[in-house]
Amino acid sequence: MFAEMLERIGEMPAPISNSEYISRQSKLFDTLAESDVLILCAAGETIHSNDVHHPYRTQSNLLYLTGWTEPEAVFCACHNGKEWETHLFVQPKDTLREIWEGRRPGVEGAVADWPVDFAHPIGEVSKVLGKMMSNCTKVLHRVGVKSSVDELVIDAIQRRDRARQKLGSGPIAVEDPSNRIAEMRLIKSESEIEQMRFASDVSSMAHVAAMKHGGGVNVMEHQLQAIIEGFFRYAGTSGWSYPSIVGSGENATILHYKINEDHCRDGDVVLIDAGAEFRGYAADITRSWPNNGKFTEAQKEIYQLVLDAQNAAIAECVVGNPYNAPHEAARTVLAKGLIDLGVIKQSLPEALNLETGELKIWYMHNTSHWIGLDVHDVGVYLPGGKPRLLEAGMCLTVEPGLYFGAWRPDATCPERYSNIGIRIEDDILITDSGPVILTDKCPKTIDEIESIIG
Ligand code: GLY
Ligand code: MN
Ligand code: MN
Repeated sequence: MFAEMLERIGEMPAPISNSEYISRQSKLFDTLAESDVLILCAAGETIHSNDVHHPYRTQSNLLYLTGWTEPEAVFCACHNGKEWETHLFVQPKDTLREIWEGRRPGVEGAVADWPVDFAHPIGEVSKVLGKMMSNCTKVLHRVGVKSSVDELVIDAIQRRDRARQKLGSGPIAVEDPSNRIAEMRLIKSESEIEQMRFASDVSSMAHVAAMKHGGGVNVMEHQLQAIIEGFFRYAGTSGWSYPSIVGSGENATILHYKINEDHCRDGDVVLIDAGAEFRGYAADITRSWPNNGKFTEAQKEIYQLVLDAQNAAIAECVVGNPYNAPHEAARTVLAKGLIDLGVIKQSLPEALNLETGELKIWYMHNTSHWIGLDVHDVGVYLPGGKPRLLEAGMCLTVEPGLYFGAWRPDATCPERYSNIGIRIEDDILITDSGPVILTDKCPKTIDEIESIIG
């Protein structure tokens, strides 16, 4: 069943080039003073139990600037008087460890094939960094990722204090570089969009595979999850970009349900929120469908309303709009629709009121978040307190939903919509010629969905 889905996915794109990584680094260095030192750390592996590790995923900013994915790495940069020079500290080659755990590029591989000027064994970080920091005035370093490097930075500051009278050199400030890098990550390059498009295609086809081969009364939620995540790996992505949510019936009304152990019962709608990660880039798709292949009239009413809200929100994904214009459009459509369906008894302005409006009982989350190297990607939404305006190259999700949990003690669920949970989520690229739906290979109209469910 997977081969058929694979045929509908575009070619795997070329990886991000070293020249692109170098130009990202240069762009960041252009914002720094020549007396600054930049440090980015990746965490080490964490133990699951005994000698079993949790799957490793490196820190996104380090990945963004270097493409390096191995654990236990430190990237740093300083200006040598003529130009910026970059250093990567890595796990050195170690035959015994490599026999057991896998090959390592090591120092030689890092400097030969990755976009850095110098590479060193991770054990030399204190010697090299200590020297680098002794003459700088500011260290750009995020505290709390790697305690051994935090200590080096503190030590450099204390040394500076001790030498202040004599030399007047050494760091006097520490700044988290994350915001500077977030500003860059917010606008995706063509090559990044290609990676995201591939992650989106794979995720779309994984959802189709679940609809086509997983639909059916009494299928288990974890069986649908298995199809989806099995396809993620089959298609060559690294797996999920966040834990898959597969909830049927009342479980679909729990926003981040993750147990995925229940039956899909006859008449239930199943909500699947699942996306693949490809070369670090995330996709994030939600589809909601009747596992018996046919929406009830009540389910159709809610589904179509959420789809209308999503379409209205996507139409607002245009250059120059505030980032929350899609959210406001979705809220308005949902509130109007719920008033028409008799669920909300307030007027439209009353229903939309953030304090007292009834819309938030059934729609309690935001419509969008940035997406990129992280599923909930970086970038300040309200710089200076004002909503950021959308620019070409930004990517965000559009994911309105309605959740009628009959189990909720805080609200009286309308009987007709009891335990219907619907979310429809796509990933949108902002362009000068309007919104591009990266996840457009995943069908979502009622007719399309009903015709696919096996
Ligand atoms: N999958 C989490 C989200 O949609 O934001
Ligand atoms: Mn999302
Ligand atoms: Mn999602």
